[in-house]
Amino acid sequence: MTQTGLAGTCRAVIAGVGSALPQRIMTNADMSKVVDTSDEWIVERTGIRARHIAGEGETTRTLGLAAARKALEDAGRVPADVDLIILATSTPDQTFPATATMIQADLGITRGAAFDVQAVCSGFVYALATANAMIRCGQAQCALVIGSETFSRILDWTDRTTCVLFGDGAGAVVLTAEAGSRGIADRGIFSTRIRSDGRYANKLYVDGGPSTTGTVGHLRMEGREVFKHAVVNIASVMEETIAEAGLTPGDIDWFVPHQANRRILEGTARKLGISEDRIVMTLDRHGNTSAASIPLALDVAVKDGRIKRGDLVLMEAMGGGFTWGAVLARY
Ligand code: UT7
Repeated sequence: MTQTGLAGTCRAVIAGVGSALPQRIMTNADMSKVVDTSDEWIVERTGIRARHIAGEGETTRTLGLAAARKALEDAGRVPADVDLIILATSTPDQTFPATATMIQADLGITRGAAFDVQAVCSGFVYALATANAMIRCGQAQCALVIGSETFSRILDWTDRTTCVLFGDGAGAVVLTAEAGSRGIADRGIFSTRIRSDGRYANKLYVDGGPSTTGTVGHLRMEGREVFKHAVVNIASVMEETIAEAGLTPGDIDWFVPHQANRRILEGTARKLGISEDRIVMTLDRHGNTSAASIPLALDVAVKDGRIKRGDLVLMEAMGGGFTWGAVLARY
């Protein structure tokens, strides 16, 4: 599914960005006290050195709320301006209601709509694509798009092949409707692509659910299989997005990918001829935070001055489902 805007008058502009992390940091050395692993193995195979782990009172809701408040402040907006909240998460506070509605209430917003999107690690790309479409068709003027996760709560802490990979956190952007063209020279989201292929559902999943086991379940993954598909799917969606805009990889100022594995990012970069210093990498300190990883990385690179207003940014992700997708935006 693709949305490109060459016609029309309204586009969605990233007006602000924010993020939040749990207080507790768990290093690879800490991890080696929990399962039979080592800093050397984790760094060599993934690039991860540490991750944040939610403590008591820290949940997808509280982290998402904190990130949303910071994004609103960054955008110079107040909660009363917001008429849409989309939260990407696979670790909601409760099965229902949507955690987005809890954040809506926490912000004191009583208008518009709030809902969750579930596309695992591609969730933020799906949420951005949805918010962008709603803004373009006039259904929203000011959207909070949040990725918030507490994967530590669905990990099997006896399974070293998965528990070392993930971390908790949240990131958010404020998208505002701005008048003007939808050309590539303008600030705002230029195009979005979202894809899925449910034949691979058993490669990365949670072995529980309300309608089957009545439990939350634990994350299960065939890492090597996911890895193989990730490089191919990510590269193809990035190539399509860049070509559709009439650009080459060299025209993109910053790649802000989902942070799953350093080797996946380097492999994709090599395939596309992207220089590695154009890739924002935060997985060394955050691990894989699923739907939160892109807005967390975006916030880090905006705040440290790398990503500037007017820069062309390509975000991409791949996750359980499989789902994958990309968003091309001028920040
Ligand atoms: O975010 C959603 C998308 N997710 C991803 O993109 C994840 C994709 N997959 C990956 O990132 C990688 O496949 C992993 C990091 C999960 C695994 O790396 P790998 O190079 O594919 O390792 P492997 O699964 O082939 O395992 C190699 C060896 C095995 O030992 P043997 O069978 O060769 O003796 C594992 O048992 O490494 C062993 N191993 C570990 N050793 C120390 C697996 N996990 C660990 C560990 N510490 N934590």
